[in-house]
Amino acid sequence: MAHGMGGKALPDTAKQDDTSWLAATYRRTRQFSEQLCAPLLAEDMGLQACPETSPPRWHLAHTTWFFETFLLKPHLPGYRPHNPAFEYLFNSYYNGIGEQYPRPQRHLLSRPTNDEVMAWRHLVDAAIDTLLTQTDNLNGLMQLGINHEQQHQELLLTDLKYSLSFNPLSPRISRPINTTNQANESTPALTFQCFEGGLVDIGAHSGFAFDNETPRHKAWLEPFQLANRPVTQGEFRTFIQDGGYRNSDLWLSDGWSWVQQKGIERPLYWNAALSHHFTLAGEQPLADNQILAHVNYYEADAYARWAGKRLPTEQEWEHAARAQAIAGNFADEGLFQPGTVRNSALSHLFGDVWEWTASAYLPYPGFQAESGAVGEYNGKFMCNQMVLRGGSCASSASHLRASYRNFFYPHLRWQFSGIRLASNPR
Ligand code: AVJ
Ligand code: FE
Repeated sequence: MAHGMGGKALPDTAKQDDTSWLAATYRRTRQFSEQLCAPLLAEDMGLQACPETSPPRWHLAHTTWFFETFLLKPHLPGYRPHNPAFEYLFNSYYNGIGEQYPRPQRHLLSRPTNDEVMAWRHLVDAAIDTLLTQTDNLNGLMQLGINHEQQHQELLLTDLKYSLSFNPLSPRISRPINTTNQANESTPALTFQCFEGGLVDIGAHSGFAFDNETPRHKAWLEPFQLANRPVTQGEFRTFIQDGGYRNSDLWLSDGWSWVQQKGIERPLYWNAALSHHFTLAGEQPLADNQILAHVNYYEADAYARWAGKRLPTEQEWEHAARAQAIAGNFADEGLFQPGTVRNSALSHLFGDVWEWTASAYLPYPGFQAESGAVGEYNGKFMCNQMVLRGGSCASSASHLRASYRNFFYPHLRWQFSGIRLASNPR
């Protein structure tokens, strides 16, 4: 079994070992990136509103660079990079490959143009087709490239939302969710499901997984309770109206500094009246039963403290999610905003919003990054970030699993990040 390096192809990958499955999955994934850009105007393609985000055109180019750099250059005999300058422009952070164009300035790259990037994409797609007819031991790396493209599809959407939010014309690129119906639905009560805990298995064991999900290992869990659903906009508005952002008792020290320094009073994209929020379908009314998004770790932690609860650890979350089907509101739906809570059972673990956990993003016991540049994929970021679980309305269903570990710095909130509460048994 070829190891994926940045990702790993674990046993039980019969289906994924099939070259035609790989070629079809590659093509479908590449096309989905282009489909996401279809509603955009040429003028939208270069927008980048802050250093953490990238322009849509850059995402289309960087994912192409990834296939060129890690698949075509080393494995397709005679392949020459389309344009050597692109190796610098579209290298994100791989020091083992070479220097990188500064991330905060990606919006200054008006060239290569949209058309040039699209043409490059299609050349690389054709070369990957050729590669797959010649070699059959690149499954791990191919799956890494495909999953990498899916990560950038999500980033493309969240980055675009951030950029468009600065435009008072409130542009729309997706269809609105029906908020009239929402207002008429009642919110299922928040309940807690009990878990016994004990010695549990953590980490990936079959199919594709990123290296940060390995090695699989045992963890000990004390008995715990997990909320049936994520926190809603209505519940978070109550926290605000109760003075949540003004009560230092509720906040971690770093969180309180962030609130004070930035004058924070509400989640990202909410208006001052706490009546509307900006979405990819334009300005929409807040709804009591819509799932809350765009809070950072500090806000999630403060809300949990206010509610007399806590955030789950990533091991508790994974243990609870292991038995759940990967069903929910994903990018596949094309809504690109969290849905409403409808179900009184344990639900919405996958899709809608990434859920902040109380766990620092650290290597699992025995973790070893691969040697070479591809080993920079996940391992070198294991410092000062927090783990989020589950996936969001901007993630593809086929990208997610119970063992998946997303990670972001605790102050960031432009991702679709929300809150699921946990508690200790009484
Ligand atoms: C896992 C979402 C934090 O944004 O850098 C993209 C995903 N890794 N290219 C990131 C990723 C390489 C990663 N996050
Ligand atoms: Fe990347």
